[in-house]
Amino acid sequence: MTERTVLVCGVGLMGHGIAQVMAMAGHDVRVFEPERARAEAGIKRIAGNLDRSVAKGRMTDAERLATLGRISIAGSVEDGARGVDLAVEAVFEDEAVKRDLFARLDAGAPESAVLASNTSSISIARLAEAVRAARRPMVVGMHFFSPVPVMPLIELIRNTDTSDETELTVRAVAAELGKQVIVSQDRPGFIVNRILMPFLAEAMRAYEQGLGTAEDIDTGAKVGLNHPMGPLELADFIGLDVCLSIMEVLFEGFGQAHFAPPAVLHDLVAAGHLGQKTGRGFYTYPRG
Ligand code: CAA
Repeated sequence: MTERTVLVCGVGLMGHGIAQVMAMAGHDVRVFEPERARAEAGIKRIAGNLDRSVAKGRMTDAERLATLGRISIAGSVEDGARGVDLAVEAVFEDEAVKRDLFARLDAGAPESAVLASNTSSISIARLAEAVRAARRPMVVGMHFFSPVPVMPLIELIRNTDTSDETELTVRAVAAELGKQVIVSQDRPGFIVNRILMPFLAEAMRAYEQGLGTAEDIDTGAKVGLNHPMGPLELADFIGLDVCLSIMEVLFEGFGQAHFAPPAVLHDLVAAGHLGQKTGRGFYTYPRG
């Protein structure tokens, strides 16, 4: 296996999982967050996941230590980007923030480095506009699914300039992580969220119309369709703010009513109830 140096920008729900699986695959991983405390929190979360793996006998303590030893904190984007083979950005879904990050990565990373975005819906071509023309062939979408250590899929999104070599690099990294690749065109929501979000939105509309309780709607999908989680539970798990921003991108891109974010979603997000991460969404969750 090729040992790579990988920078992961943003170690929240998705980013910490991406850093974890990269380190587990033997890569040298740097993580960056604007606040060092957040980077430390991301690594603590990874350590907790690895502790569970040791407890379940999936990993030895020596492997856990070696995995953690491959992860370090970068003091700045530029420091983190120096000498990398691959940078994956997993910051929150804000196009301006992601574009700014891509411009900094472009300035700091070697000419040969691949710059990937874990965006769940934002156009890869628009992100690629933030880098120099010579770098655009190395810009690609590499969309992971949560929880990253468990979900074996990566959506690969090419912009019009993405090179075949970049696609091959992403495919090779995915194989090293044990993930399957699907290729999507650079359209709003790509493949999975284009299918998933109308399903979640319809469940939310059914809930706001009082068609059934949250539990009954979720049980319908779990028991009647064999889904591991019901749609409301899944929305809480993904993050209601994330669902809202993806639905907005889809609705803006296609203009069809079934992509429109439901009122209940707007209300919950406006009230700061973002799902599991804030302790309340369609359900309430015990702290910690
Ligand atoms: N991190 C690491 N591992 C985790 C985990 C986490 N956050 N949560 C669960 N796991 C592991 C557990 O350790 C367990 O491993 P073992 O079987 O080896 O012991 C395994 O996953 C199953 O976990 P549990 O038994 O605790 O619980 P479960 O059987 O209910 O499964 C689940 C949990 C895997 C999350 C399952 O409910 C599921 O698949 N849910 C749907 C997830 C999904 O749809 N994800 C995609 C969301 S969309 C997205 O991410 C993209 C986007 O752009 C919005």
